[in-house]
Amino acid sequence: MLKGRFFFLALQTFALGAATLPDELFSSDIPSKVLAAFKTLPAPIQYPQYTDTSAGKWLFFSPNTWTSGFFPATAYAINTRQQLCGSTPANGLSMADWLSLGRSASTELLSLNANNGIGHDVGFISFPFVEELAINPTNQTAINAVNNFASMLAARFNPVVGCTRSWDTSDPTDFQVIIDNMMNLEVLFHSADLTGNDTLRNIAMTHADTTIKNHIRDDGGTWHVIEYNSTTGNVIKKRTAQGFSDNSTWSRGQAWGIYGFANMHRLTNKTEYLDTSRRLATYFLNNIPSDGIVPWDFNAPLTPPPRPADSSAATIAVNALLLLAQQETTQDAKQHWIDGAFAILNNITALAWNPSWQSLLSNGTVNWPANNFLTGIVYGDYYFIKAGNELVNMGLATCKEPFSAGNGSSNGNPVGGTDAAHQRSSATRLSLFG
Ligand SMILES: *[C@@H]1O[C@H](CO)[C@@H](O)[C@H](O)[C@H]1NC(C)=O
Ligand SMILES: *[C@@H]1O[C@H](CO)[C@@H](O)[C@H](O)[C@H]1NC(C)=O
Ligand SMILES: *[C@@H]1O[C@H](CO)[C@@H](O)[C@H](O)[C@H]1NC(C)=O
Ligand SMILES: *[C@@H]1O[C@H](CO)[C@@H](O)[C@H](O)[C@H]1NC(C)=O
Ligand SMILES: *[C@@H]1O[C@H](CO)[C@@H](O)[C@H](O)[C@H]1NC(C)=O
Ligand SMILES: *[C@@H]1O[C@H](CO)[C@@H](O)[C@H](O)[C@H]1NC(C)=O
Ligand SMILES: *[C@@H]1O[C@H](CO)[C@@H](O)[C@H](O)[C@H]1NC(C)=O
Ligand SMILES: *[C@@H]1O[C@H](CO)[C@@H](O)[C@H](O)[C@H]1NC(C)=O
Repeated sequence: MLKGRFFFLALQTFALGAATLPDELFSSDIPSKVLAAFKTLPAPIQYPQYTDTSAGKWLFFSPNTWTSGFFPATAYAINTRQQLCGSTPANGLSMADWLSLGRSASTELLSLNANNGIGHDVGFISFPFVEELAINPTNQTAINAVNNFASMLAARFNPVVGCTRSWDTSDPTDFQVIIDNMMNLEVLFHSADLTGNDTLRNIAMTHADTTIKNHIRDDGGTWHVIEYNSTTGNVIKKRTAQGFSDNSTWSRGQAWGIYGFANMHRLTNKTEYLDTSRRLATYFLNNIPSDGIVPWDFNAPLTPPPRPADSSAATIAVNALLLLAQQETTQDAKQHWIDGAFAILNNITALAWNPSWQSLLSNGTVNWPANNFLTGIVYGDYYFIKAGNELVNMGLATCKEPFSAGNGSSNGNPVGGTDAAHQRSSATRLSLFG
């Protein structure tokens, strides 16, 4: 492995300017680590959310936690990868029936309801059921789940504020909305498609429109939390919960925003959403420091206090930029976001890929103000896998088998073997893209 990386780095210098991707993206460690985590799930089921900081061991949380959908969705993502890449002895994808694992691990989420404290995060929780419907569109259990989660989110909509409520508060007139909520809107569109109920679509668009008005700074950064008065609809306060300070830009929130608005454009074709996603993406890329590592907050001082990375913000941003690239119509615009996605992915993989941990990546920041950082994170890993799948879908990567050290002669290529072939095919495909 070490030898492989050394060789790869040497090659990067050789392949000046060529688009490169990390070998780890299609590593057989991915299915083997995810399967190992499946084998340690507690009964009754609890879901991995993040790891400890010393040994990288998963910590498990009850189903009514906002992150519970990601682990089943990870099994669906590996199932998708198997469809995209096939199974070879080297890629390890055939070691489990991923669809069955995704299905069995999501059944406990079906009983979650409005009283479970899941709140607006029903959107995240719906991910495995949305995946299920992509495979089996007539699965009534999954249809009911998506419709129920959408109704729960719609019930949190306040027309005076123009948003769905994110967090519950003891004072019900204190109506708190977080930028992350942009990620939960998609479930409303799925349900609208299933039921023909356009109110759900309108709620999603109103939420996004209100978020554009209040959540985004002139420089394209975002606030984490906006508090509205639910009686008057006025903004009471703009602040942070997980960021460095009230006026700083928390990188994971920024990444959710890029993704959420690009997704809103995909779902509606409204230009305002595309423009907003671009503004947020521009801020994100412009604020990555020269070491290429996404910090947990773009405005946190370098030292002191320490400024750890957030590998989850990085992998979410990679997916967000790839989705944004798909919304663009010109080759230059597509290429700009793709270049950004490649740079973030390369740098975060070099820093955080961690063979000795149970998670794929380390260097996640769950919640810095709560002193919870330097961990693996389930959604960081999920979006790492999804990024690999998406790159294959877009024709930007091939399902390369893990790099085997010292083998420089495959594909008949005199320099660099599989890696050089991979890079070349990436670069060629890039110009065909779009
Ligand atoms: C239908 O979806 C549910 C929930 O995702 C899953 O548990 C179940 O196994 C699926 N049923 C079939 C027949 O595929
Ligand atoms: C459409 O969805 C909204 C929000 O959940 C709900 O209030 C309304 O009753 C639904 N309309 C129909 C015709 O089901
Ligand atoms: C919202 O406005 C109402 C009416 O002005 C007021 O009674 C209430 O205290 C306000 N709530 C908050 C959280 O500011
Ligand atoms: C946030 O506000 C503080 C104090 O008002 C100011 O010193 C700091 O520069 C601001 N930071 C940003 C990123 O705007
Ligand atoms: C958006 O525009 C594209 C390209 O014209 C079209 O294929 C797609 O169906 C449209 N989507 C929506 C939701 O209108
Ligand atoms: C790492 O990030 C920097 C800064 O964004 C970028 O210039 C560089 O190309 C990235 N490295 C790779 C290997 O993509
Ligand atoms: C990455 O994680 C390692 C191990 O936990 C830690 O020592 C290092 O400081 C972290 N780097 C960043 C930039 O967060
Ligand atoms: C190099 O890789 C090729 C293709 O995967 C394989 O056929 C060949 O046996 C390998 N050679 C060595 C020396 O491992």
